[in-house]
Amino acid sequence: MERSEAPTHTPLSVALTRSLMSGRRVGFCLSAKKRRRVNLDAFADFCAGHGVEVVEIDLAQPLAPQGPFDVIVHKLSDVIVEAEHDSQSQQLLANFQSFMSAHPSTVLLDPLPAMTQLLDRFASYRIMSKLHKSLRDWRVCSPPYLEIHSDLSSVQHAVTTRGLSFPLICKTRVAHGSLSHEMSLIFSAGSLADVHAPCVLQSFVNHGAVLHKVFVVGDRHFCVERPSLKNFPSGPCDRKTIFFNSHQVSKPESSSDLTALDEQMPGLPPPSSEAVAALVRELRVQLGMALFGVDIIINIHTHTLTVIDINIFPGYEGVPQFFPALLSHIESVLDEQATQTTGAAATPGL
Ligand SMILES: Nc1ncnc2c1ncn2[C@@H]1O[C@H](COP(=O)(O)OP(=O)(O)O)[C@@H](O)[C@H]1O
Ligand SMILES: [Mg+2]
Repeated sequence: MERSEAPTHTPLSVALTRSLMSGRRVGFCLSAKKRRRVNLDAFADFCAGHGVEVVEIDLAQPLAPQGPFDVIVHKLSDVIVEAEHDSQSQQLLANFQSFMSAHPSTVLLDPLPAMTQLLDRFASYRIMSKLHKSLRDWRVCSPPYLEIHSDLSSVQHAVTTRGLSFPLICKTRVAHGSLSHEMSLIFSAGSLADVHAPCVLQSFVNHGAVLHKVFVVGDRHFCVERPSLKNFPSGPCDRKTIFFNSHQVSKPESSSDLTALDEQMPGLPPPSSEAVAALVRELRVQLGMALFGVDIIINIHTHTLTVIDINIFPGYEGVPQFFPALLSHIESVLDEQATQTTGAAATPGL
């Protein structure tokens, strides 16, 4: 994205906004692993060429001297989860929150409460399960599921009355950290004893072993195909529970017995781009977030676009346009802020 010179007839307000754009500082608050994954150094170089300074925030140091920041991009979900059992992380989070309260003009991408809800699959599936209503025209749905809190005694009854069907996929309630990717496939009521609460039990949907990952950056989104779990015969059977880690299944390089289809099947149509765009628009509003991912599968029988996962600030692997898209989103946030500031300055008392 090249910034063009302001032509001589540019209105004063636009020229003022542009001049305010230079010298903007964007803080990044990411773990070392995430910094490497998104290649933050290369992004910083890219931004420098467009007049935006990228600063790596060190959470362990006082924040005020590291500022000021116009925008902070972060994945503090790591720290939020650790803060549940670790006092040092609690302190880091508290420092960060008090810095944000003292600097209300700094825009946080994305807001902490919005992110926090996605750390809990009970909360994220409540959001996903409402999509079929708001997106009725697009035939978007999420598989039927059950929240398993602690009591397993009524699960068998609930599975049948709540419209779930075997096989079931079992996912931990916590949606963050390495343990959250440990899952199981349960093939009959007799195997429900393999379930460890708290977790979500969800109907398994045959989808031809193709996962569509949608990566959202503000008002742009990108779709990437990944391997996924193979089809299984519908209905209960006496197969033993399969325990697996989802990273074996749906990473770009994943290849396992679980992703190799047992039968030949014609390719499925990709998800409709209009339906995906409508889904992304709806989720942006529902979540109040700009940097997230959605995992979609296509039901092989009904071709229904089925939402199975929402991810906080994903890796954007396979999205070469990520840098320009992120910079453009940051610039639009800054533009909006500058317009508000100059608007307020130009119209005092209004
Ligand atoms: N309801 C489902 N039906 C069929 N396959 C599913 C379903 N839910 C998840 N999967 C498969 O399991 C993988 C991991 O599930 P997901 O909910 O995306 O968890 P994670 O947080 O590990 O990404 C998916 O990429 C997909 O291959
Ligand atoms: Mg996923």
